Amino acid sequence: MTDYPYDRTALRAELATVDELPGSAKPEPILIVDRITRRFGGITAVDVEHLEVQRGAITALIGPNGAGKTTFFNIITGFDSPSAKEARWRFQGETIASASSFKVARAGMVRTFQLTKALSAMTVLDNMLLGSQAQAGERLLRSVFWPSWTGREKQLVEKADELLERFTLHDKREDYAGSLSGGQRKLLEMARALMSDPAMIMLDEPMAGVNPALTQSLLGHIQDLRDRGTTVLFVEHDMHMVQHISDWVVVMAEGKIVAEGRPGSVMKNQAVIDAYLGSHHDQDLGDDAVLEEDFDELAKVEETEREVEEEKLEEYVEAVREAEGEEN
Ligand SMILES: Nc1ncnc2c1ncn2[C@@H]1O[C@H](COP(=O)(O)OP(=O)(O)OP(=O)(O)O)[C@@H](O)[C@H]1O
Ligand SMILES: [Mg+2]
Repeated sequence: MTDYPYDRTALRAELATVDELPGSAKPEPILIVDRITRRFGGITAVDVEHLEVQRGAITALIGPNGAGKTTFFNIITGFDSPSAKEARWRFQGETIASASSFKVARAGMVRTFQLTKALSAMTVLDNMLLGSQAQAGERLLRSVFWPSWTGREKQLVEKADELLERFTLHDKREDYAGSLSGGQRKLLEMARALMSDPAMIMLDEPMAGVNPALTQSLLGHIQDLRDRGTTVLFVEHDMHMVQHISDWVVVMAEGKIVAEGRPGSVMKNQAVIDAYLGSHHDQDLGDDAVLEEDFDELAKVEETEREVEEEKLEEYVEAVREAEGEEN
């Protein structure tokens, strides 16, 4: 393994030797994914044959709306299951396919999850403590609900405080998370994910809904994560941001990985151009009736996604409770 803090020049030099092809082998993969498919009714949302993610790098996962990026994230972090049994994925050499989100987090791979209703009604500090559940041997939920800090729990509060300082949220420590601005929520999601010292962090549209004043600070935090040795995989639509901070780019379209490459060259790839053009082809934007229908449909999908996310979160909290029971 490379020494920390990560040498970015060396990392980029290593990646410069990688073939710019879908599924290409990486010099030091932290995550290796094979044959993950996910179907919803008639549509195949994810159909990934092979993907390797380089350790220590910032990898951007891009692609048009509906390409399957979020679904793919959900599956590899245990928040959703693949449709076919042949799916395999290994993280740091360990097979984690079909592990629960809780076990995946314990293995060192965490994703940010959005501030759902349940989390909005908790304080910023309690949100942070929930993030540390992934650490082995914690009895955290108890302390979240009965704040009787002892020993290890005190250490966790200290750690939460340090992270809140680093992410400039310390003033908000006792506030309800629901009262935070969009950008502050993103910072909290990131800070919370770091409570478990993950080897890899997965961010789904970290910049969405963030005002420009906070964008720069979020970018800085993401680069800082990489510089501290954390592998970052993030989904983002803003190409300027992708070009600016990523070391490697993976492009998804219609569930498949269609291209991979360095940020400077991947957007010139014909498969990528086709994917982005293709995504707008069949839309008749002149027809208002069609548009309205699409908006209704979109709202429905978004509502379902929110519900699914809330459900997953509840399952996660439940898994933490169970693990706690086993440990006691
Ligand atoms: N729970 C679900 N039930 C049914 N269909 C779903 C569900 N979740 C996702 N889909 C569908 O799967 C496809 C991939 O969706 P996904 O959200 O993974 O795309 P995405 O790449 O994250 O898109 P975006 O950039 O808009 O966030 C879409 O067609 C979507 O409508
Ligand atoms: Mg998405």
